[in-house]
Amino acid sequence: MAPNHSRVPAITLTLLALSTGSLGQKKVTNEFTDPATGIVLQRFFGAKSGYGFGIALPTNPTNSFIGQLTFPLNNGAGWGGWSLTGDMEGPLLMAAWSDGTSVVSSFRQAANEKDNPPEVAGNFSVKPIAKGTSVNNTFLTYTFLCEGCLGAQLGLDPNAAGTGKGVEMGWALSDKPVQNPGSSAGVLAFHNIGEGGFKADLTLAKRPEFDTWAALAGPPVAGAAGAKPFDTTKGGSGGDSGDEDSDDEDSGDESDDDD
Ligand code: HEM
Repeated sequence: MAPNHSRVPAITLTLLALSTGSLGQKKVTNEFTDPATGIVLQRFFGAKSGYGFGIALPTNPTNSFIGQLTFPLNNGAGWGGWSLTGDMEGPLLMAAWSDGTSVVSSFRQAANEKDNPPEVAGNFSVKPIAKGTSVNNTFLTYTFLCEGCLGAQLGLDPNAAGTGKGVEMGWALSDKPVQNPGSSAGVLAFHNIGEGGFKADLTLAKRPEFDTWAALAGPPVAGAAGAKPFDTTKGGSGGDSGDEDSDDEDSGDESDDDD
């Protein structure tokens, strides 16, 4: 029989791997299967805020993804959003909220961190997946196909993104009412619950079932008249103030993890 002591280093290594793993579980995505649709996403979840964002990609990434936003509402009020980078200024953003009966979503691009980022339009569109979308007074779930939403000029090129540590994306959550919530141009209040970056594992987000899931999506949502053209010169990750490592600037959800 092989001597027993040969196993000790293996156990030590396992424990080491486990402990670094649990540290590394902060602000990263993990596999999550949406119970309503069966869509398997790489999902970031903030235990403190209750905010979730999941992403799925085709095996050979294109400029589209399936996304899912989930977050609590404050008596129907609030909004949640994602950013294609860890920053607010520059990249393609999406915010979603409730108009009292349905989910309203809107593409945004911020020129600063002071004002409500205006609605933008471009060669991207969102097609809601009704089966995975629901809203009540306390919680919103928005599952969608985002077509044309990825690319270097928008902030995230899935084919250029590194495979190792994951690619930085951003989240934000408010529990304050959106002004004029029936319009996709509704005015957003500051994300008082929190915001920050997380690492999305785009390698694990690739799913062979992507096309089947994408076929669940309905027609595209039309933006409001007056949406500004997305400024592609500002959208790339190099187009902002150079604050790429803003994940140390997080607020509101210091203890993000997957508990
Ligand atoms: C009225 C609307 C908004 C205001 C006033 C606002 C303001 C701000 C401010 C002041 C910060 C810096 C926080 C800090 O450094 O401590 C920030 C960061 C951030 N915001 Fe917003 N924001 C708004 C809307 C949005 C929207 C719609 C999104 C995404 C959908 C978003 C995503 C982010 C992210 C990811 C950060 C962290 C990274 C960074 O500092 O750039 N924000 N925001």
